[in-house]
Amino acid sequence: KLKLDEHIAERKISDLLIGAFFEDINYAADGGLYAELIQNRGFEYSAMDRKEWNSMTAWSTTNSETILSIDTLSPIHKNNRHYVSMHAKNGGGIVNEGFDGISIQKGEHYKFSIYARTKSGQFGQLIIRLVDVKGNTIGETKTKKISKKWEQYKLEMIGNATVSDARLVIAYSTDGVIDMDMVSLFPKNTFRNRDNGLRADLATTIADMKPRFVRFPGGCVAHGDGIDNIYHWKNTIGPVEQRKPQRNLWGYHQSFGLGYFEYFQFCEDLGAEPVPVVAAGVPCQNSGHHGHELGGQQCGIPMEDMGDYIQDILDLIEYANGDSKTFWGKKRAEAGHVAPFNLKYIGIGNEDLITDIFKERFTMIYQAVKEKYPDVKVIGTAGPFYEGSDYVEGWDLATKLEVPLIDEHYYNPPGWFIHNQDFYDRYDRNKAKVYLGEYAAHLPDRASTIETALAEALHLCNVERNADVVMMTSYAPLLAKEGNTQWSPDLIYFDNTTVKPTVGYYIQQAFGQHAGDTYLFSDLQLSNHDETVRKRVGKSIVRDAKSGDIIVKLVNLLPVEIDLELDLSTIGVVNQQVNATVISGKPTDQTARPVAVTLQLDRCKLSPYSFTVFRIPAQK
Ligand code: AHR
Repeated sequence: KLKLDEHIAERKISDLLIGAFFEDINYAADGGLYAELIQNRGFEYSAMDRKEWNSMTAWSTTNSETILSIDTLSPIHKNNRHYVSMHAKNGGGIVNEGFDGISIQKGEHYKFSIYARTKSGQFGQLIIRLVDVKGNTIGETKTKKISKKWEQYKLEMIGNATVSDARLVIAYSTDGVIDMDMVSLFPKNTFRNRDNGLRADLATTIADMKPRFVRFPGGCVAHGDGIDNIYHWKNTIGPVEQRKPQRNLWGYHQSFGLGYFEYFQFCEDLGAEPVPVVAAGVPCQNSGHHGHELGGQQCGIPMEDMGDYIQDILDLIEYANGDSKTFWGKKRAEAGHVAPFNLKYIGIGNEDLITDIFKERFTMIYQAVKEKYPDVKVIGTAGPFYEGSDYVEGWDLATKLEVPLIDEHYYNPPGWFIHNQDFYDRYDRNKAKVYLGEYAAHLPDRASTIETALAEALHLCNVERNADVVMMTSYAPLLAKEGNTQWSPDLIYFDNTTVKPTVGYYIQQAFGQHAGDTYLFSDLQLSNHDETVRKRVGKSIVRDAKSGDIIVKLVNLLPVEIDLELDLSTIGVVNQQVNATVISGKPTDQTARPVAVTLQLDRCKLSPYSFTVFRIPAQK
């Protein structure tokens, strides 16, 4: 029997409880959410990104007489030094293979663009073709005659077949030498039809989670694996050909086509708060593969450079919030967004070791942000707080500095979530609030299953109860491209044509779509008093003030069905039939999906290994 407290004890729930964690890991950005279809469009890949890569990676020629070389002599921009020089012969051309092929849909419109200039006396045209694996043309267009100066040519083409593995061919209409750079192909239909936009299917899947915030750009990507690899937001804004690409510590390349402007825009399109996370002046684990080493072991941005680094962070807030008369606000306006993005939160640091090097730099950044932008809430970093935790010092620092929120991460086996349901009940209510920035019920290298998903659901029920401590949560990682993953499990898998949400995704979606603003304490009486049985049943009852609905979430991690009598009479809810959503299956099931059922409140049947959510409409 599940009965609401006689005294109707309540607790406020933060309106940011369920969010999304976006990191460019597992090809989440280039080749993923970022809708660009051309791989290595700027010829900037190098052995720094991956040892077998170079400027020609993903490119080849159509015939052996056509010679390609890479030049850096007079680029379109100093941040984008490499371009290709094609010595075309006999109608030959250059071919891009996309990210494991280019997905083309019949009848869809595509936006092609290229920077080009001719070097020979011949002023030919570029003929652009989409071809399938058999060499059939499935889309075609051509430029006007190419001039001697770098110029951007923009064209539209329509796919006339649906294939997942097309190639893009660019041929020159005469024999001669032509320089090319920033070869780009986007589907016209991007999320909210943004230019330089995001893959509509993936972005919609994220939107369906109803995240109240999006954290970006990481994870480890935010602080990099050495000082040289720290993510600098200024490298990622402005015209795409002027952005400064960088090695991705997960073993590939960041073009930064998806940069800070696009992240802010995406958050606005989702109706989610932007939560950028910047490095706390230290790279991952304070150690550097390439960075300026201090003491051989640990490193941070040298003190003489910290002033500039802090200014960059203050500039980021101006970029987001300043009006267009400010230097950085003007840059945002020039990018097409005159109104401020209204940034309210900024994360400083990601899962850092709490060393003196970290503490010194974090304190400097924190104080500078607090002084200049007292309304922007800083989210600090430390691991989970429990006795003996390595992160006590991080929490002590947060207490000393009065940091309002702490980002903590943990990936634990399902059993941990089952046995630590009072984890946040034990947290000190007087310390910083928690942003559970990365978590997952994690069986390393094993997929998300009913078992892991139900463990996460159980945890979220407990988080809702502890909403006076936990303000924000985000499962991590969010996206993973099949065949290109560095981390498992992830929430949403995809390939070039298909989005494949996991069971865990549907749990996040259920909590996002059915968030409430008030937690109602209830009492669960089980006929079986065994502790191990009791721990495998979870519940959360919340109210949503906007709709007036009461929302009930129930988790059954037992191998048997539960007969449940739900008594909400203390708040005047009468016994009735409700429409519920259920996710259930065998513990190892990876394919379970939400199913609609009807339930009677006084005799709900909870399937073995199931999650159930339903709304009881406001009483008239
Ligand atoms: O989510 C994957 C990684 O896990 C993140 O980059 C890092 O912050 C954590 O260690």
